[in-house]
Amino acid sequence: MLSTTYNNNGSFLLLLATVILLVLPFIPPSNAQLSSTFYSSTCPNVSSIVSNVIQQARQSDPRITASLTRLHFHDCFVNGCDASLLLDVGGNITESEKTAAPNNNSARGFDVIDNIKAALNASCPGIVSCADILALAAQASVSLEGGPSWNVLLGRRDGFTANKAGANTSLPTPFETLAQITAKYNAVNLSTTDLVALSGAHTFGRAQCKFFSQRLYNFNGTGNPDPTLNSTYLTTLQQNCPQNGNGSTLNKLDPSTPNAFDNNYFTNLLNNQGLLQTDQELFSTNGSSTVSIVNNFANNQTAFFQAFAQAMINMGNISPLTGSQGEIRNDCKKVNGS
Ligand code: HEM
Ligand SMILES: *[C@@H]1O[C@H](CO)[C@@H](O)[C@H](O)[C@H]1NC(C)=O
Ligand SMILES: *[C@@H]1O[C@H](CO)[C@@H](O)[C@H](O)[C@H]1NC(C)=O
Ligand SMILES: *[C@@H]1O[C@H](CO)[C@@H](O)[C@H](O)[C@H]1NC(C)=O
Ligand SMILES: *[C@@H]1O[C@H](CO)[C@@H](O)[C@H](O)[C@H]1NC(C)=O
Ligand SMILES: *[C@@H]1O[C@H](CO)[C@@H](O)[C@H](O)[C@H]1NC(C)=O
Ligand SMILES: *[C@@H]1O[C@H](CO)[C@@H](O)[C@H](O)[C@H]1NC(C)=O
Ligand SMILES: *[C@@H]1O[C@H](CO)[C@@H](O)[C@H](O)[C@H]1NC(C)=O
Ligand SMILES: *[C@@H]1O[C@H](CO)[C@@H](O)[C@H](O)[C@H]1NC(C)=O
Ligand SMILES: *[C@@H]1O[C@H](CO)[C@@H](O)[C@H](O)[C@H]1NC(C)=O
Ligand SMILES: *[C@@H]1O[C@H](CO)[C@@H](O)[C@H](O)[C@H]1NC(C)=O
Ligand SMILES: *[C@@H]1O[C@H](CO)[C@@H](O)[C@H](O)[C@H]1NC(C)=O
Repeated sequence: MLSTTYNNNGSFLLLLATVILLVLPFIPPSNAQLSSTFYSSTCPNVSSIVSNVIQQARQSDPRITASLTRLHFHDCFVNGCDASLLLDVGGNITESEKTAAPNNNSARGFDVIDNIKAALNASCPGIVSCADILALAAQASVSLEGGPSWNVLLGRRDGFTANKAGANTSLPTPFETLAQITAKYNAVNLSTTDLVALSGAHTFGRAQCKFFSQRLYNFNGTGNPDPTLNSTYLTTLQQNCPQNGNGSTLNKLDPSTPNAFDNNYFTNLLNNQGLLQTDQELFSTNGSSTVSIVNNFANNQTAFFQAFAQAMINMGNISPLTGSQGEIRNDCKKVNGS
């Protein structure tokens, strides 16, 4: 009797456990982990659709891969990777991040994000978030220019708000000390290795004179150029960016291989040819733990590529919205229904 009762209870508990295990996956978790297979049944071709649109854009705009890589960074550091960067003023959005100091007349590629959204809308409508499009576009862009590939973690959802003031304060500026930059990375749980690896994204793309010309003429109020600037490189930069000239003039972030994704950014730093103050500081700050990391990446491209891929995954994990949080925007520029 006792054993029958026991068996009955056991069967009941087993049944209950089975029911819970079967039902559990269908309850959307509100705080789920991102996953590389998130769209494998709902939009299996998502990666190639994203890459194809970028390849199209790149035919007339070779810089677009760099610009798209930067957009994911500028999204993730502000309210997490929630596509807040993409929202225009309208509806409840009173201030767009696009006009915050680090983005105004600088962040670019938004039209290509819209083209990717439209292409995905045709193949898998309502499925892929704009925040995931930014993550996928960054990976495709780096790969297209010869950089590493990695499995992008997916399942982010799009936020309802933009944070212009946050974009102003959370994103690093090129005029800060290494300690200030490190603090901004630590605030989003990124390490010093992540900082050095991610800075290697300055292996491609362009920067306007206004972001470094203070180094060429009157560095930090000294009346002299930045002493860490290679003197040959200084002359070149002074020619391209004359004092009181047009601050919008573009310069190669990596003069040696301007459009390729490789480790020359780090060999440039060894030659005192970092373009931004914050680039050169990684190597020229005496006693900093970043110096040996720069040396390693300059001497071993495989080590850089591995660390870069891991750092992009870490950056892509900054406070994502998942499960039932946020929404899948129909138009990356607007909250649905606004
Ligand atoms: C230390 C932190 C960083 C600072 C201070 C910084 C600053 C800048 C500045 C001032 C520019 C030039 C923008 C312009 O002239 O309009 C730039 C360009 C760029 N940044 Fe950064 N950046 C940092 C980190 C990163 C990270 C983490 C990534 C990506 C993983 C990145 C990717 C890029 C790319 C690809 C460009 C070229 C964009 C283009 O040509 O459109 N940067 N960055
Ligand atoms: C995915 O793309 C391949 C070719 O790139 C195509 O043959 C296939 O039909 C596509 N699948 C879907 C589900 O769109
Ligand atoms: C952004 O740039 C435009 C010029 O294109 C300028 O008129 C505007 O004042 C700038 N906005 C901010 C917030 O700096
Ligand atoms: C996506 O498709 C829907 C319905 O076909 C359409 O209303 C919407 O404008 C499309 N969005 C984009 C970005 O193409
Ligand atoms: C952004 O920062 C600049 C100076 O760094 C300041 O002039 C501006 O008022 C700030 N804007 C916002 C919205 O915080
Ligand atoms: C960073 O990590 C701490 C501790 O694990 C956590 O409380 C915080 O939310 C994380 N911040 C971000 C931006 O991920
Ligand atoms: C600029 O000068 C200030 C003090 O005058 C100093 O604290 C700061 O570290 C200097 N910045 C750089 C990048 O050398
Ligand atoms: C500065 O250069 C930009 C692009 O290179 C151009 O659009 C702008 O008109 C120039 N401004 C002046 C004052 O020459
Ligand atoms: C300056 O750059 C040149 C390469 O253009 C390099 O040969 C030289 O060693 C560099 N000088 C310094 C001080 O880094
Ligand atoms: C680092 O130290 C060397 C001497 O050891 C000095 O010449 C150089 O100016 C220092 N660099 C910086 C950026 O302070
Ligand atoms: C380069 O880095 C990779 C990855 O960290 C490592 O496996 C390899 O041994 C390094 N190569 C050299 C020559 O140090
Ligand atoms: C705008 O904000 C109001 C008040 O919080 C809210 O009721 C409404 O749903 C929001 N609209 C959109 C499109 O998010």
